[in-house]
Amino acid sequence: MSDPQPVYLSDYQPPAYRVTHTELTFDLDPAATRVKARLLIERNNQADDKTPLVLDGEQLKLMSLAIDGTPLAESEYRLGDHGLEIHAVPASFCLESVVEIAPSENTALEGLYQSSGMYCTQCEAEGFRRITFYPDRPDVMATFTVTVIGDAQREPVLLANGNPVERGELEGGRHFVKWDDPHPKPCYLFALVAGDLHKVEDTFTTMSGRNVTLQIWVEKENLDKTEHAMASLKRSMTWDEQTYGREYDLDLFMIVAVNDFNMGAMENKGLNIFNSAAVLTHPDTATDAAFQNVEGIVAHEYFHNWSGNRVTCRDWFQLSLKEGFTVFRDQCFSADTNSAPVKRIEDVAFFRTAQFAEDAGPTAHPVRPDHYIEITNFYTLTIYEKGAEVVRMLCNLIGWEAFRRGADAYFERFDGQAVTIEDFVNCMADASGEDLGQFMRWYAQAGTPEIDAHGEYDYAHSEYHLTLRQRTPATPGQAQKQPLHIPVRMGLVGTKSGQDLTLTLAGETLGKDAVVHLRDDEQTFVFTDVAEAPVPSLLRDFSAPVKLHFPYSREELAFLLTHDSDGFNRWDAGQRLAMLALDDLIAAHRNGVEKVMDTRVTDAFKVLLTGAGASADKAVLAEMLTLPSEAYIAEQQPIVDVDAIHAAREFVRQSLAFALRDEFMAVVEANHTDEPYAPTPEQIAKRSLKNVALGYLMAIEDERAIAFCQEQLAAEHNMTDVRHALTLLVHSERDDLSRPALKAFGEKWAHDPLVMDQWFTIQVTKPQPDVLERVEFLMQHPAFSIRNPNKVRALVGAFAQNRINFHRLDGKGYALLADVVIELNRLNPEIAARLVTPLTRWQRFDETRQGLMRSQLERIKQEPLSSNVYEVVAKALA
Ligand code: PHE
Ligand code: ZN
Repeated sequence: MSDPQPVYLSDYQPPAYRVTHTELTFDLDPAATRVKARLLIERNNQADDKTPLVLDGEQLKLMSLAIDGTPLAESEYRLGDHGLEIHAVPASFCLESVVEIAPSENTALEGLYQSSGMYCTQCEAEGFRRITFYPDRPDVMATFTVTVIGDAQREPVLLANGNPVERGELEGGRHFVKWDDPHPKPCYLFALVAGDLHKVEDTFTTMSGRNVTLQIWVEKENLDKTEHAMASLKRSMTWDEQTYGREYDLDLFMIVAVNDFNMGAMENKGLNIFNSAAVLTHPDTATDAAFQNVEGIVAHEYFHNWSGNRVTCRDWFQLSLKEGFTVFRDQCFSADTNSAPVKRIEDVAFFRTAQFAEDAGPTAHPVRPDHYIEITNFYTLTIYEKGAEVVRMLCNLIGWEAFRRGADAYFERFDGQAVTIEDFVNCMADASGEDLGQFMRWYAQAGTPEIDAHGEYDYAHSEYHLTLRQRTPATPGQAQKQPLHIPVRMGLVGTKSGQDLTLTLAGETLGKDAVVHLRDDEQTFVFTDVAEAPVPSLLRDFSAPVKLHFPYSREELAFLLTHDSDGFNRWDAGQRLAMLALDDLIAAHRNGVEKVMDTRVTDAFKVLLTGAGASADKAVLAEMLTLPSEAYIAEQQPIVDVDAIHAAREFVRQSLAFALRDEFMAVVEANHTDEPYAPTPEQIAKRSLKNVALGYLMAIEDERAIAFCQEQLAAEHNMTDVRHALTLLVHSERDDLSRPALKAFGEKWAHDPLVMDQWFTIQVTKPQPDVLERVEFLMQHPAFSIRNPNKVRALVGAFAQNRINFHRLDGKGYALLADVVIELNRLNPEIAARLVTPLTRWQRFDETRQGLMRSQLERIKQEPLSSNVYEVVAKALA
């Protein structure tokens, strides 16, 4: 068998034939669903009557095929593993096909499959070809009419895109519903759901006064978990009207919750399908983080109705066109709805850990890749999150007003079309008059740019000279990089006044906070009339997705921590200060030298806990009191020393807790509340501050903290507090407390899969060394199933994030992950390819671990691999 071959962006050709209307009839059956398709097809101008009609199709049993009512002879077409080619067709015709598929055997969860007995679909990116023969590419857009036939008892609810136009009874206890979607769409936005579902309904009046019915469809036992998603949906609809002037365009908007889903959710036109974990919430079962996640994902999918559905992607290389823009939109929505600085801090903390790691690894790719083997491998942090950072830079470069005009032009010019990233950026260039030529390199170059900054204050001339030097490291396939256009938002904070100083550059007064444009490899900016020596505050609000190095002293960082006017950079100064201390401790650990706590960090924490900081936004304060994660610290090291990082971070946590025990306890007590649960920013802030403080105290097993955790657990006031208390107890050395607590929790929630996911995760993320055996044991637990992606993520995925245990020196952690990857490669290649990621980062570790990780990759490579896993493993071993 030959290795799977890549597809190239440069090979793009417009389709030879387009489908103007698609009519589908599904006769549902678990093992043999019949799909009848009537496609109205027209030849495009550049093709002629010798151009064959090529249709994609996989795992389809072809039952019949006809053109304009005449069945085709076998000599008139060629049927292969990946599709169907009809040698000669008229310029305009109706193609009719009947195929049979087996949803109950579909474990890949792409195409039509069954989840907890119900039928559902997932077509993005290339799942529709598992439903019927079709030109499965986003630049073929058709109106759809869909008839779903099912058993009236088992499938009382039959859903598809658009509006229901007809329903009726059929023989043998069957019934049908016919749906019509008037908006032309690519087939990746097709959806069908059928089963014993129950709905919660609401209405929304759009800005032009149209009434839209909103429905959330769930299994009966989840009817009490939809309120927050519904409220989030309505807020999203209002936000998109007010912020982008975009209104919903059908009479009905549906969300369905399914238990088996590869991703978070999917924006199918009028029928969004959600992973149940991304839509269901209840104070007793979901944490604050889950509530916020649901709000963000509901918004994200809703926003896709314009940025994705009305205007879609020409081809999958343009994926970030819809995803980067839509993530940017959902981030802004969440910032407006909750605490904006905290949203930014959380997003950047995650980005700098996970996306930077991707950019530094063997699967690094540009925001617009130029080739891929398997598109499902490209639903990545780079396409989504870095793509959003690039859109954010665009917005900051040209300003919101111009950006909004550009967005208006984009939606207007390209409505109903499948377009490219250039089309989007050109709208922004036109709206602003800005030359965005150099900026386009952000889409083409992989890797995280690094800026080395250096500053000098010239007392004699009252000038501040800031030199910025940029470089982007080589990434696979891209040895040389060109300089990028990098917006660096900054201020100069006066060391005497503690205030932002006015920035004057080349005679122009820019205000106290400005953006300087770095375009060359190296540039020096000379600020004049700088009355006092400043500390520069650079890359405010993380104005570009880069690593910024500046030789700050610890005193300067402590100064910025309290004086920077930019909330994000205040937080970042704290992170940098902690990093300097952690670096020393990591070195001490490696050298076997006694660890000594940096009292400047302790002092800074004390100020936060008691002094000026205590009055600050509590949610921001909770972030400022949180140390960089082990994963983030690892990203800063040339070679990751797993044990030293863990030891150093624990040492800091314990030192802080010993030094500030009473201060932490005071914060815990002051922020405890038993008012009725609500996911409001105020309540969430209090809970997170309290729980962060409690975490420090539990690092030293403070008796009051233990009692507090036990009470918090027993009170069962809300899942945020319960989960946190349980986690702290389980992750402590106090087995006597944690065992009974875990057992009681597991029994209480045995019926609720989303809570059991949390129960799995809590147990496999603890630092004690018996975790691997625990994972093996829990994989046999009745609540676990390797076929359910949420379970795999909650147990195996979470274990692989448990750094000291996954990276055990006997290699058993790696072997366990490889075993699961090999099994999933057969069942669900998409999930298998994601799960293998931690092993692909082997270059970052010591030689012993490198060898162990590589040997597991080699073992996986011996298997008959799906193209998904093949692509990732081959890149990792290249
Ligand atoms: N397009 C979905 C989103 O961004 C993600 C997705 C991709 C879901 C592929 C399923 C399969 O919201
Ligand atoms: Zn999306």
